[in-house]
Amino acid sequence: MNLILLGPPGAGKGTQATRIIERYSIPHISTGDIFRKNIKEGTALGKKAQEYMNKGELVPDDLVIEIATTRLLDEDCKDGFLLDGFPRTVHQAEKLDEFLAAHNKKVDKVLDIAVEKEELMTRLIGRRVCRSCGATYHVVSMPPAKEGVCDVCGGELYQRSDDTEATVANRIEVYNSQTMPLVDYYTEKGNIAHIDGAAGLENVFTAIVNVLGE
Ligand code: AP5
Ligand code: ZN
Repeated sequence: MNLILLGPPGAGKGTQATRIIERYSIPHISTGDIFRKNIKEGTALGKKAQEYMNKGELVPDDLVIEIATTRLLDEDCKDGFLLDGFPRTVHQAEKLDEFLAAHNKKVDKVLDIAVEKEELMTRLIGRRVCRSCGATYHVVSMPPAKEGVCDVCGGELYQRSDDTEATVANRIEVYNSQTMPLVDYYTEKGNIAHIDGAAGLENVFTAIVNVLGE
């Protein structure tokens, strides 16, 4: 199954991705995670991406398309994949479709997770992420058993540098202006499903499974 997770920053894409990849045994491809890994390792790609990410702007299309399509050539993507945070512009979506068509593949389903702006701000400003395993927490709604420590692996929890109030607000603006047009793009293709992301974690996952099948 070839899937795309669409939705504004904080909609719960990463949170649901963890569950989806386990249920359907497909790899999770998050362009944001790929960039953060490169930033941590200090690569040239990381340095370039960081300039944009810190401001909440999109990394240039050409760079993202190259990274995502290269990753899709990996052996583990042969029988399906879950794209999280890509595509994010109509140009990226067109290039992805061209790439998949050239490999006799297509996007099977786009899961569009919607959440109100105020809730997105609250979620992102309170988000904490594990430095070691990437597990996600929230200081109020999903706190770890011990403050600052990951329940899963004991790693240190940190706040993403783009989870500040000003950057979050810009990321939401950028989503509305540059990524929202993808809803029309996939509606025309007839492969989009709308998911209410405001429901609790388990309810959101149940809605996703209802769309994808058991
Ligand atoms: P990326 O890493 O993709 O970030 P994002 O899209 O902004 O999404 P987030 O990871 O912030 O949110 P999420 O939806 O995964 O929410 P989460 O599950 O963590 O991109 C970062 C940057 O990289 C971009 O700004 C851009 O610069 C660059 N980039 C990446 N891809 C690009 C591309 N294709 N083109 C150009 N540039 C690109 O949940 C958030 C919080 O809410 C957590 O605390 C969680 O615990 C909580 N939560 C989740 N679900 C629920 C629920 N149902 N109820 C209550 N709380 C919940
Ligand atoms: Zn951890």
